[in-house]
Amino acid sequence: MIIAANLKTNFTRKETNKYLEELESFVSSKNITQEVLVFPAMSSLDDNDTSIVTGAQNAYATKEGAFTGEIGLVHLEEFCIKTILIGHSERRHILGETQAELVTKFNYYKDLGFKIVFCVGEPLEKREAGKNEMMEYISSQYKGIDTEYENLIIAYEPVWAIGTGLTPTLQDIEEIHTELKVKSSAPLLYGGSVKVTNAKEVLALKNVDGILVGSAALYTEHFCSMIEYAQELEGK
Ligand code: PGA
Repeated sequence: MIIAANLKTNFTRKETNKYLEELESFVSSKNITQEVLVFPAMSSLDDNDTSIVTGAQNAYATKEGAFTGEIGLVHLEEFCIKTILIGHSERRHILGETQAELVTKFNYYKDLGFKIVFCVGEPLEKREAGKNEMMEYISSQYKGIDTEYENLIIAYEPVWAIGTGLTPTLQDIEEIHTELKVKSSAPLLYGGSVKVTNAKEVLALKNVDGILVGSAALYTEHFCSMIEYAQELEGK
């Protein structure tokens, strides 16, 4: 399974390096064979010689150039980063990234062979509008994306569940994942208020291939426990 930590705008470079070292020592002492991914803040990217794969939370669809406030391929190459998160709800809804911009970014990093974690998920009003409207909305977030891309991972993250402590029911997660699996056979992660207290149940669900964790991943011990749950559920 895939266990991913989105550190968002948290942890300095020093703190991130310590975090990665702690994860590395946990993963090697427990012989973890699950895929562990960490997305540090941009300025916390570094030369890490740990086995933990780090990815970028965002980058512009460019090698370099005049895009103030953005980073490009050269900045990722400096740290051998080949994994990127695209379409996170905070980028869609707070930073206003459009589907068209996300498609451009997706295609750019796909052509470079990056592993892409592409996020989809509905805001509360779409969920409240009923199942059909909600599924249509989520489908629109797949538009223009090569759903058969071999290095694609999809993360289903309901916007209203992110950082709120609210989650869909386990049955809801399983149902939505089952529908989304029809759109793409890529590994499908669930994200949105995954905590050490619910991670095991979520990971055990059919069609859940892993989790994308925000706030709870900031607690190293909690994140390590989640990695261990995934290991225990191997071959579920
Ligand atoms: P959360 O964030 O775990 O804090 O809800 C998840 C995410 O944004 O990926």
